[in-house]
Amino acid sequence: CGIVGYIGAKQAQDVLINGLSRLEYRGYDSAGIATLENDIIRIEKKKGRLINLEDALEKAPLSGQVGIGHTRWATHGVPSDANAHPHSSVNQEIAVVHNGIIENYMALKNELKDRDHVFVSDTDTEVVAHLLNELYTGDIVKTIQMAMQQLKGSYALGVLCANEPDKIVAVRKDSPLIVGLGDGENFIASDIPAILNYTREVYLLDNGEIAVLTADTIQVMNSDGEIIEKEIFAVDWDPGDAEKGGYDHFMLKEMVEQPKAMMETLMGRCCESGVTFAGLKLNTEMMKNINRIQIVACGTAYHAGMVGKYYFEKFARISVETEAASEYRYKDPIVDKNTLLIVISQSGETADTLAAIRLAKERGAWVLAVTNVVGSSIAREADDVIYTNAGPEIAVASTKAYVTQVGCMMMLASFLGELNGKMEKAEGSRICHGLMMTPGLIEKALETQAVIKAFADKNHKIYDLFYMGRGVDLYTSMEGSLKLKEISYIHSEAYAAGELKHGPIALIEDGTIVVAVCTQENVFEKMLSNIKEVKARGAHVLAIVQEGHQDIATEVDEVWVIPEMDDDITAIPTIVYLQLLAYYLAVARGCDVDKPKNLAKSVTVE
Ligand code: G6P
Repeated sequence: CGIVGYIGAKQAQDVLINGLSRLEYRGYDSAGIATLENDIIRIEKKKGRLINLEDALEKAPLSGQVGIGHTRWATHGVPSDANAHPHSSVNQEIAVVHNGIIENYMALKNELKDRDHVFVSDTDTEVVAHLLNELYTGDIVKTIQMAMQQLKGSYALGVLCANEPDKIVAVRKDSPLIVGLGDGENFIASDIPAILNYTREVYLLDNGEIAVLTADTIQVMNSDGEIIEKEIFAVDWDPGDAEKGGYDHFMLKEMVEQPKAMMETLMGRCCESGVTFAGLKLNTEMMKNINRIQIVACGTAYHAGMVGKYYFEKFARISVETEAASEYRYKDPIVDKNTLLIVISQSGETADTLAAIRLAKERGAWVLAVTNVVGSSIAREADDVIYTNAGPEIAVASTKAYVTQVGCMMMLASFLGELNGKMEKAEGSRICHGLMMTPGLIEKALETQAVIKAFADKNHKIYDLFYMGRGVDLYTSMEGSLKLKEISYIHSEAYAAGELKHGPIALIEDGTIVVAVCTQENVFEKMLSNIKEVKARGAHVLAIVQEGHQDIATEVDEVWVIPEMDDDITAIPTIVYLQLLAYYLAVARGCDVDKPKNLAKSVTVE
């Protein structure tokens, strides 16, 4: 979910809608705003996309120069007008927007019901509004502090109180929240893009902190209620980076931005003589004590972690486990002070990944985060950070964040290989040289859009699609398959090519499309055999090969030839072909590419 709040001289409604439009990627089941004017709180909220709320507000605008807004990704309660935020208490004296989950909401709700509170939604958030209302003693800040004693779970809250019309109060516990500093106006938001048009100076709230905003002042208190000085954090993203800029979809824009993103990732780190990470604390001495490396992440970042494992093992000869954060945190992982935990997260806010960090740190591990968002919770809680430098990623389906994550993994593999003395200098140079070619190779991949679109237009009626690969091509296949599922709703599986015959081959029928990713010379012949196995069952095979292997055309139905390159860097350009395939199939099927159903960009609940 996304939160935005405004207090100043402008009409709050306009700022809130603008902010929400930049936060829709956070969830789009419903959206709502509350404004405060003449001591009265007014709320409008609508199920579905933001446009529904905008239509309602056009007919009946909400005036007022202070307000809060929310866009929802449903956890408790189906998407509906009633379950949309803001939620309010009796007589709308207090209105609340909330990200996170109140774990003890049922118990609190039952107690409040016993005291005659009437609830109109199924959400945990409504309980917060009622609780605040019941505890209210004329001072909303003190009331929130009291409520915090009772609320269990995670929350970022924005609160309006009709009795105290000149302020917004915000509080954060395990769910991100920032305060934006303006001139005669101030903001709250769950994510930077929401307020990027108005300010680039922010405070990053820490757990337990409460911020009280008026138009001209911001006061921040720690969890003991003491007023504290916050450091101003300067955001270096350009407002234009979070705009669609003439493209049909954010996803297309972000795919096109990949050469530049990759360049930013490599810059200052990767050169012919090897990899350097300025500011990284991890050094040779520390590496001597590391006897276990774990990579933990979710979704697309998890796939980058699989590529990471492959190259850490190949270049640094260290055995690595890559695990989904949601699994890692509940399985009592073997982790101690000799463990290096590497977490990967675009947003830097994914709840499960954050929980994995906390668990590993508690047990003494050294935590290195690879993330795209400077100042994010994951960046702040890790011991070391490498930023992917991809710029803001808005589309739910991750593209430029992924290629830059993979770039960071390859650099790290080479870096660790050098640190522990397992990799020759010349090898390091070769990898860096290869990586430096990737922006140009991605450019080449993007030039093939017309071919990929034509393939998609011809085949968009399919109901499933298989991907197969060996070695690093398997992880590229897995990521390609995830992209396809996410945005086109076509059923898809990615399989180790040699493993297909142990099960999924049963699903291959006449005409089933199988994308065979064959960029690795050492297993090329093996891939050919696997292609023959599926062809024999009627599959329609699309092979992706490096230049020089075009003659595979006699064995398959379609070939996409990618430029010749070092086998160790193919994971980066090859995924671009699969991203474009997913994109054009989704477009041909009329899907809402940037806002696929049931998904959200940043998942701050477990
Ligand atoms: C969500 C997004 C995915 C993303 C995953 C992890 O599910 O829809 O695109 O890969 O979260 O997000 P993170 O920000 O931690 O990389």
